[in-house]
Amino acid sequence: MKTRTVLLNFLIQFFSYESYLEIGVYDNDFNFKHIRCKYKESCDPAPDAQAMFRMTSDDYFRQNKRKFDLIFIDGLHHSEQVIIDIANSLKCLNKGGTIVIHDCLPTTEEMQLIPWTTQGDWTGDTWKAFVHYRQMNKNLSMFTVDTDWGCGIIRKGRQELLVPGCEINYHNFNKNRRSWMNVVQTSELENALLKTETKDFPAAVISGLKYFGNLIASAGSKSMLSLHKSKR
Ligand SMILES: C[S@@+](CC[C@H](N)C(=O)[O-])C[C@H]1O[C@@H](n2cnc3c(N)ncnc32)[C@H](O)[C@@H]1O
Repeated sequence: MKTRTVLLNFLIQFFSYESYLEIGVYDNDFNFKHIRCKYKESCDPAPDAQAMFRMTSDDYFRQNKRKFDLIFIDGLHHSEQVIIDIANSLKCLNKGGTIVIHDCLPTTEEMQLIPWTTQGDWTGDTWKAFVHYRQMNKNLSMFTVDTDWGCGIIRKGRQELLVPGCEINYHNFNKNRRSWMNVVQTSELENALLKTETKDFPAAVISGLKYFGNLIASAGSKSMLSLHKSKR
């Protein structure tokens, strides 16, 4: 199973979520089908995509009246569009909900270039959208889980605004990725989530769920920070 799927299912269990939206699905078997949640919706404009709503995320949000506990943004990986997808997702996120953004930790400059020109893995410049909200919105809690090309986490909360002190480009991202993206290792996920939560969790629930690191390791999780170091 993909480690993003393990992460999303873990969040559903951890917070007892009941509703899930996926933006950008393509083949249901990639991820959507494996998400264990009471209510699920998806959108994707590709003619052959297996989405419930065959339309762009902008069109989807225009017609949507529902609210969701968990929203996975994995559509058009251009920062301008991801910024809009995050803004729309925040508007229809239930209290206590979480947004997960895929592909936030590219390991090379080529794999985040727009337009998509590489033959191999491509993340787009999604990371810039994440940095944008780290700079602009103090009413969010944000960190990036170091797995599956970087899974950005956004919850309503509080954060110290990021002051990069330099231009937002790949060269500077490369030097500052850990701090700009507030990178958290998979073994630290539960604690990072608990810091974003205002209500207290019963101790039994917390101790019963302290296994994300093990779960994700057995799913074959790779650290993007280590991969990046090995490519330098
Ligand atoms: C990387 S795939 C999604 C993969 C899937 N979520 C997974 O976990 O493997 C990205 C998808 O986003 C879709 N997409 C492109 N532009 C979009 C847009 N504006 N709104 C929603 N989806 C879009 C593409 O058609 C493509 O199927």
